[in-house]
Amino acid sequence: MVTFGATKVTLLQGDITKQSVDAIVNAANSALAGGGGVDGAIHRAGGPSIMRECDRIRAERGGCATGSAVTTGAGELDAKHVIHGVGPIWGQASPEESDRLLAGVYATSLRLAHEHGCKSIAFPSISTGVYGFPIERAAPIALATVRQTLDDFLMDEVRFVLFSAGDLAVYESALSAFAGS
Ligand code: APR
Repeated sequence: MVTFGATKVTLLQGDITKQSVDAIVNAANSALAGGGGVDGAIHRAGGPSIMRECDRIRAERGGCATGSAVTTGAGELDAKHVIHGVGPIWGQASPEESDRLLAGVYATSLRLAHEHGCKSIAFPSISTGVYGFPIERAAPIALATVRQTLDDFLMDEVRFVLFSAGDLAVYESALSAFAGS
């Protein structure tokens, strides 16, 4: 088992909608309009109440900026909250700015989870699907940001739920590079 301080860090291959955690993070778009990938799966499995809340947030605040996140209830998912994080679209900004925006999604998601009293959180690999962010570059950013942010917003468990065996292998290799660092 890997720990970041007092936090258990788990990597697993699976479907994020099947996780039993306090907060499930979605890979959303800035309009909070739903889509395919994780976003489609979460809205399908969680039911229409999640989109109703997204509609309200869009009406009130115009959606969610890239690099940030917003919280809704989790509908029928086995979680208390869904945190909708908006990652960068690879190629729209410089690589360095994209790194910063991606880190912002992980950091904001942990902060929101903490503010809502969550002790466990599951992340997908944000931006590395439709948004095209190279996963070999994204995985160390995700892990480093989570490790750093946990100093301020402690969790009992952070789970990274990777959809494919290949993606899991990339995260495992990035995590093992942390050992001893
Ligand atoms: N559980 C876990 N991971 C999943 C699941 C699932 N049920 N479904 C897909 N994935 C994986 C993908 O294989 C990919 O590795 O999540 C990763 C992120 O891919 P996307 O869902 O495409 O997210 P992203 O690249 O951030 O693009 C966001 O896609 O669906 C739209 O509305 C969404 O416009 C937004 C964009």
